[in-house]
This record gives sequence, structure tokens and C-alpha cells, in this order.
Amino acid sequence: MNKSGITFSNLKKAPPLLCGGLPYLGHALEFYRNPTALLQQGQEQLGDIFSFLLLGTQVTFMSGSKANEAFFRAPDNLLSTREVYKLTTPIFGKGLAYDTTPEMMSEQLGFVMPLLREERLQAYASLMVQEAQVYFESWDVEGQVDLLSVMNELTLIIACRCLIGREFRQRLSTEFPRLYRDLEGGLNFLAFFYPYLPLPSFKKRDKARIRVVELISQILAERKAREDEDENLLQTLMTAQYKDGSYLSDDNITGILLTLLFAAKQNTAVLATWTGILLLQNPQYLPVILQEQQQILGNGKEVSLNALRQLVALERSIKEAERMYPPIIMLMRKILRDFEYEEYCIPSDGLLMISPAVTHRIADIFHEPNRYDPDRFSPGREEDRKAIYSLIGFGGGRHRCIGQTFAYQQIKVIWSTLLRLFDLELVYQNYEPDYSTLVVGPQKPCLVRYRRKNIQ
Ligand code: HEM
Repeated sequence: MNKSGITFSNLKKAPPLLCGGLPYLGHALEFYRNPTALLQQGQEQLGDIFSFLLLGTQVTFMSGSKANEAFFRAPDNLLSTREVYKLTTPIFGKGLAYDTTPEMMSEQLGFVMPLLREERLQAYASLMVQEAQVYFESWDVEGQVDLLSVMNELTLIIACRCLIGREFRQRLSTEFPRLYRDLEGGLNFLAFFYPYLPLPSFKKRDKARIRVVELISQILAERKAREDEDENLLQTLMTAQYKDGSYLSDDNITGILLTLLFAAKQNTAVLATWTGILLLQNPQYLPVILQEQQQILGNGKEVSLNALRQLVALERSIKEAERMYPPIIMLMRKILRDFEYEEYCIPSDGLLMISPAVTHRIADIFHEPNRYDPDRFSPGREEDRKAIYSLIGFGGGRHRCIGQTFAYQQIKVIWSTLLRLFDLELVYQNYEPDYSTLVVGPQKPCLVRYRRKNIQ
């Protein structure tokens, strides 16, 4: 490469480098405090592509729908998820999900796919409603709750009930939520780079995983003895075979189950929370949502999948929350071979990053992007359809989320139940994102006041 950054081999240049930063740490401190602000600041200074140093690793950030497309369309042997998600290996287990080949990971996700098919989603609608009703029935006539904690509890209950099965759901009132919290405590910025440091949070994580395998093994043994053939993930995984004919070990089954729970629960809880906060901050959108609910679900009509699909105003408010506060604010890949994009060549070994949070605030795509406006998705406007890969809260391409429909369905059930049963009011004016966790929810405490409605 010459001084101007032009490579002799193909005349493509290296992306500009963000100035500032400390030796080795690079921009880690600013990134840790507020990654979105750092990326937006870099974009303002240097344009849609630039590199910066993060704990000794060169990270290249690209933004815009064209850049997102290049990122999502790249094959796994060029841009790899495996290395960047190695922080999940201590939780999901060796040889599972991101700790295996892309082919094997597809095989493992293939075991899960039948649980997300249309006919299963139909059956989940009533289970979700049951769980939400039971949960909210335990609330007093009036009070104050931490909305994020509520959503965390409820989405774990619903995910376990629908995806994993009755026995697992029954054990939820006891040990599992604590174990889950310990596992979750092992997912942080440091684990991205050093997942095996001897830290108390990582030790707790490892202890919790051993115990979760024991718990699942116990349930599996009981199930085998009973020859229960209830259709759920445990049953599916117990009888599933890899292409080579081998059956899954208890450790493997636990790993797939945890992969699914981790992918499903935290993101859904966070999106459900932002949906509610934004709606309560912008109450002018509530009457249409309530009216729609009354029309479609009023007078005790069945909350079927079809009915939920007709809640289009509520759906637009979820989509706007996804746009303004995507739970996963950035997506990363390890660059395995030099990656060429437009006039740039990004060298192998570094990380490539795109960001839903930054893309969703691009004014060329979304009109007045900092304004809450769910109607931007209404027929005739549909701002997300102007360009491919502009609304990317659920990713895109080969690693696109498999659970978006399940997540939207669940959030619709939760919010239609809450809005039917309670009047709600925010305790604070502002609810800011908490960047200390990988899935970015509002800072805690995230308080909301409720009062039970008088329903005849
Ligand atoms: C609001 C809720 C959710 C959000 C925002 C979300 C977001 C995402 C995103 C951004 C990705 C792509 C990651 C990447 O490209 O690196 C992803 C992948 C994935 N999601 Fe979700 N997700 C949600 C709910 C769910 C649910 C409910 C499930 C399962 C029932 C699920 C299962 C998965 C799985 C298995 C993958 C990996 C796919 C692959 O790599 O092939 N997610 N999700």
C-alpha cells in the first residue's frame, strides 16, 4: 500500500481512519459509553465508511442501505459470525451455534424451524394470551412497576411456555430465572473480546450453565420415562438426528434451547419496553390503537393469529420502536479475506460493522428520523420500502432473524392485554438507552404507574 492508502494490487484504498483514541484501547472508552454516538460522529466526520481501533482490533464501520446489502449478502467464508459471537460459547456450549461450522449451525437451527411455522404460531396465540392474563392478574389495583423487568419476566415465561414446553414453564417459578440471570451476566462488552477471564460474573455464568444442563437432563429423563409426545422443542430435539445419523446429547439439547431463549427473550423484552415507553410518551397515537383493539378483539372475541395480524396500528408502533431503538444496535462480522466495497479494500482479520441504530436515523431514508412517527409505515408512505435493507432491526441475509413473527406476535399480545386492563403513565420524562448491555434497553429503573380499568 502507498502513502495515500491506495493498494497497488487493485487500486482500491483503505477506509479513512477515525483520529484520536488511545494506544491499544483505541476508541474503546467512547465506544463503551455510547457506541451509537461514536459511530454517528465518525460518519459526520468521515462519511459512510471509516475504520477505528477497539482493544487492538481494527473495526471498519459502514452505513447506508447499500453498505448493509453488501454486508448481508457476503458469504460466511468472507464475513464470519463465528468469531464475533464467541462470547456465547460458554453459554450455548462447545460445538453449538456459533461454535461450529455454518453448515452445522444451519442444521441445528433447522431443528427449531418447525416450531416457528404458521400452524405453531396459531397455537401460540392462545398460550401467549393465557400467560399474559395470568401475569397481569397478579398486579394490584394500582401501583408502580419497572417496565423492563416486567417484560423480561413475561417474555421468558412466554418463550418457555410456547417454545420449550409445559414442564419447563412449571419450573420457571423456582430456580431457572436466577440461573438465566447468571448466564445473562456473562454477556457483556468484555466477553466480546475475553470470554474466559477469571471474573466473578464469568464464574457465575459457568456454574449456572452446569446447573441448567442438570435441570434439562432431569426433564428429558422424566419425559423419556413418560413417553409424552407433546409437540415442543424438547420433544423435537430428543428425537432429532444430525445428518450423520447421530442423536443430540443432553448438552447439545441444552445448548440449542439456550440459543433460542437468548435470541428470543432479551430482544423481545427490550422491544416490548420501548414500544410502550414511546407510545406513552406520544399518547396521541393511543386512541387509534385502542379503537382498533376494540373492533378486532372487543366483546371477548378470540385472540387468534389472524386477529393479531389485523392490529396494524399497534404493529406500526412496534415497527417505529424497532426503528428508533433497535435492541441490537450493531452487527459485526470477522473479515476472513480482504473485503472490497465500492472504492475500498478492507483488509482481512479486522471486524466489519454495520448498525441498525445508525441506519435507522438516516434522514435520506426516514423523514425527520428523530421524530416518533409510526405512520411513516402506513400505506402510501412505507418509508422502509424505499430502499432495501433500510429497516434492519432483525438483521438480513443468511443470518436474518428467524423469530421476527414470533416476537411481533408476542409484543402485540402483551400490549393489547396491558392496554385493555390498565391505564398507564410514565414516571419520568425521559428514558435513555443503557449501553452497558449488549441488547440495548432503556436505563433502569424504567418506572411506569398503572391503574386497573373498571371493565364490566
Ligand atoms: C424483538 C425481538 C428480536 C430481535 C430484535 C432480533 C434480532 C435479531 C438480529 C438482528 C439477528 C441477526 C444477527 C446477525 O446478523 O448477526 C437475529 C438472529 C437470530 N434470531 Fe432474532 N431477534 C428477535 C427475536 C428472536 C426470536 C423470538 C427468536 C426465536 C424464537 C430469534 C432467533 C434468532 C436466531 C436463531 C438468530 C440467528 C440466525 C442465524 O444466524 O442464522 N430471534 N435476531
